[in-house]
Amino acid sequence: MRVDGVWYRSVWVDQANFQPGDGLPRSTEPGPMEPGDGWSVHILDQTRLPWAVEILRLTEVGQIAHAIRSMQVRGAPLIGAVAAYGMALAVRADASTEAMERDAALLAATRPTAINLRWAIGRMLTRLRNTEAAERARVAYAEAALIADEDVAQCEAIGRHGAALIEAAAAQAPDRAVNVLTHCNAGWLATVDWGTALAPIYRAHDQGIDVHVWVDETRPRNQGAALTAWELGAHGVKHTVVADNAGGHLMQHGKVDLAIVGTDRVTRTGDVANKIGTYLKALAAHDNGVPFWVALPSSTIDWMVGDGVAEIPIEERDATEVTDVTGRTADGVITTVRVAAAGSPAANPAFDVTPARLVTGLITERGRCAASEAGLAGMFPDHA
Ligand code: MRU
Repeated sequence: MRVDGVWYRSVWVDQANFQPGDGLPRSTEPGPMEPGDGWSVHILDQTRLPWAVEILRLTEVGQIAHAIRSMQVRGAPLIGAVAAYGMALAVRADASTEAMERDAALLAATRPTAINLRWAIGRMLTRLRNTEAAERARVAYAEAALIADEDVAQCEAIGRHGAALIEAAAAQAPDRAVNVLTHCNAGWLATVDWGTALAPIYRAHDQGIDVHVWVDETRPRNQGAALTAWELGAHGVKHTVVADNAGGHLMQHGKVDLAIVGTDRVTRTGDVANKIGTYLKALAAHDNGVPFWVALPSSTIDWMVGDGVAEIPIEERDATEVTDVTGRTADGVITTVRVAAAGSPAANPAFDVTPARLVTGLITERGRCAASEAGLAGMFPDHA
């Protein structure tokens, strides 16, 4: 993704780890991928967006754990990739089995709902447990780079499979923009590049399709208003930020052609965990006959879980995310203010589960399938 003319991924290691001609997007200097130490991990600090583009250089596994917990990086596929690099930093510092297992547990405890985190750490451990200690750092960086590259390729493919839906909607209404509603941020900031829910939108836009996005603000942390709107604006995609409660009204009045959201965990039966409020959008879409699609790479499928409502752990975050709001004042100061009545307690469940019956279908890197056990098993017979 390009920001001010410079190519970024949302996590990267210095260019020393990239080979010329490998096809990866990179900047012309100066930029975030100029040659460096070859091992430290770089992220865009998402708590500073949309007000400032700030790059953080992380050199210890503890900093990676903090970045994930504090949501300097967030979004299911991205926290998986960043945790993989966290494992690389960990074994670079101490390649003993004891330290490696301890640091894996530290990373796994940072956020409970997104399965990509456990998936990536599990994949790294499988690889590293079978590797001599002296070789572990080299192998860990290579495996983390593979995870990141696979995520980019998968999201690019999701974009292709999802863009066909927008193309079909455009054919139905050639005289106006296709209106897509999305919730939270499932764009390139939430993955290594491209995004999941936003990848089809970027693809359709790049193909010349007139597309407009309704961006749910996504309280309490406002990932829609702050991150999705910023991303879409940087790419030149038409969009409008709406209060989370506006979706049902827009659908009733025919102003939404389809909804596309991302997800933090999909059960083998097709239940979908995503940012709090997604379930209400799916209910409204169902009531109004609006197609409700969920975009995901296969690393987001939890083959062990059948009943999403009963079995997916839902992260409870700090109540201050609900009682307080952060923004920029007219004179450019970034500040946090309390919006709830003084002394009132608040609850902050960060995700909800949309039952498969409310999901029109899943957009994966292999194509589109039904949100059901048969649909997923048919698409991923090797995994199922
Ligand atoms: O709490 P967050 O911001 O990490 O939640 C992110 C979401 O819910 C996204 O929709 C989801 O991770 C899909 S990301 C491609």
